[in-house]
Amino acid sequence: MDLRDVAAEVRAMAYAPYSGFQVGAAIRAVSGRVYRGCNVENVAYPEGTCAEAGAVAAMIAGGDREIAEVTVIAAGPAPVAPCGGCRQKLFEFGAGDVPVTMCTLDGQSRTVSLRDLLPGAFAADQMGGT
Ligand code: THU
Repeated sequence: MDLRDVAAEVRAMAYAPYSGFQVGAAIRAVSGRVYRGCNVENVAYPEGTCAEAGAVAAMIAGGDREIAEVTVIAAGPAPVAPCGGCRQKLFEFGAGDVPVTMCTLDGQSRTVSLRDLLPGAFAADQMGGT
């Protein structure tokens, strides 16, 4: 299954009446199963959720815990990178070498590793507090 096609298909379902910016995301888990999500905005703006967050939630609900690959698509003039919060959400379930491909509708794409997107991740092993 082509992740770009999956992300483009779910992007069309995005609920983005406030920004007008629809985003689709697809995750292939290590198991091979594919999960999708789109952004869902809210009239109380900060309550909206990103496409990547939706795809991560679908993956967890589907019983997978390990990301192999991520693709995000939007209609920007250049490939859109996941926001800071979504980088951290992806990193919770993906290793540093997981490829994240950012696509535009008009065929541009750019692939970087999760490690390069989130060089300063907050990780569980940093929780040495009392
Ligand atoms: N958005 C995503 O869903 N994923 C991204 O990677 C970037 C931004 C959404 C959030 C909001 O609904 C809209 O795009 C504009 O920021």
